Amino acid sequence: MFDGHGLDLSEAPLPISDEELRERQTKIAELCGQDSIIIIVNNSESIRSADVEYPYRASSDMLYFTGWDSPNAIFCICNGSKGVHTTLFVPPRDTDREIWTGLRLGIDGAKKKYPIDNALSIDEIESELPTLISNYSSVFHQSGSSSVVDQIVEQTLLESRKDEEDSDLIKICNPGEMISEMRLRKSDYEIDLMRYSCKIASAAHVEAMKRARSGMPEFQLQAIIEGCFIHNGSQWSYPSIVGGGDNGTILHYSENDSVINDGDLVLIDAGCEVKGYASDITRTWPINGKFTEPQRLLYQLVLDSQIAAIEACKPGATFEAPNNAAKEVLASGLLELGIISGPTLEEAISPEQLGMFFMHRTSHWIGLDVHDVGVYTVDEEPRLLEAGMVLTIEPGLYFGAWRPDIEIDEKWAGIGIRIEDDVLITKSGCEVLSDDCPKTIEQLEAIIGDSK
Ligand code: GLY
Ligand code: MN
Ligand code: MN
Repeated sequence: MFDGHGLDLSEAPLPISDEELRERQTKIAELCGQDSIIIIVNNSESIRSADVEYPYRASSDMLYFTGWDSPNAIFCICNGSKGVHTTLFVPPRDTDREIWTGLRLGIDGAKKKYPIDNALSIDEIESELPTLISNYSSVFHQSGSSSVVDQIVEQTLLESRKDEEDSDLIKICNPGEMISEMRLRKSDYEIDLMRYSCKIASAAHVEAMKRARSGMPEFQLQAIIEGCFIHNGSQWSYPSIVGGGDNGTILHYSENDSVINDGDLVLIDAGCEVKGYASDITRTWPINGKFTEPQRLLYQLVLDSQIAAIEACKPGATFEAPNNAAKEVLASGLLELGIISGPTLEEAISPEQLGMFFMHRTSHWIGLDVHDVGVYTVDEEPRLLEAGMVLTIEPGLYFGAWRPDIEIDEKWAGIGIRIEDDVLITKSGCEVLSDDCPKTIEQLEAIIGDSK
């Protein structure tokens, strides 16, 4: 059924090296300062129904600092007088459990396989974590991330205050912002993984284009896309959006259960993850392989705005620069088409005019999370782009025929278009990581299966 989609598994990039993971641990320890402990908790497993769980995804911070990707682990980075020392709490070996849920590394296995100084049993967390914490004056913990750890931290603090006169003896601090700043700037290893994640997602989009037929249900395109992800050893990084016709005007459409009719556009927003690193790609194209005139006009306008936004991606530009560039092109185009009335460009760009048809932002950070961590403003100003940051560029126009709040000519009704790429800021400008995924009208019309 699948031929590899032009991808060769042997080209998969290396996972993050142990050396880099250790560097990350040391860096956060230094940022938090001497005499501190940083606690990183993992996601818990979640119940889907009765005794069936959702597929497990480790917390991005746990992946970032350790690479550990299974449940029930807590990681401690201690910065004491003898330097940085790390401890990973992991599930111990347990034959009865392993018969059902698979082999565990256990304590010795974790020590051998992961770049950590020590491993302890997660079953001992209630006795060992308070002892560890009480050795340090600052505890960096994101409260709310684990009720067990929240309780242990609070209890240890109370105990310490009972014993000491100084009621501020142990401080609790939130490491979130420091971790986000680290994760925002991607290393070469991370960029390789993201480039590969984009390669798989691009191949999946192309496969869907090739196998498109008018009258097929949205879920069959979803199956082609996600089959390609799995075929290449990855999985979706967010639920795939496959919206035909008017469904493409719903930003986070999720049903994927309608038939895509001859003459409809289909909007596919689908990305995968490789070792936790996400891609996020959207393409919109006619299911029958031929844009109608109104579809062509609007598609070219969104594409022009996307290209303008990508051109604005360079170090030193603000995070708002691509958004402004996209909005300017979109508003001028809609003015020209008579869809909005201005009369000035400034008024055309306003939320009351362009904002009625372009309701989301142009970009978000992307990395271990599809909407990745990192603030967008610094001192209330848009932050400056730097080499190593990765963001999406995803302008769109949406003319939902279902919408009671807009009046539009019938020829535009039911058209929803988004074009989304993942863009790495480089020293000299930018690299479109998802460049393998075609997006010009000529390329799309030549690929789409139903046009043959
Ligand atoms: N796939 C969700 C987004 O584009 O932000
Ligand atoms: Mn996105
Ligand atoms: Mn997307």
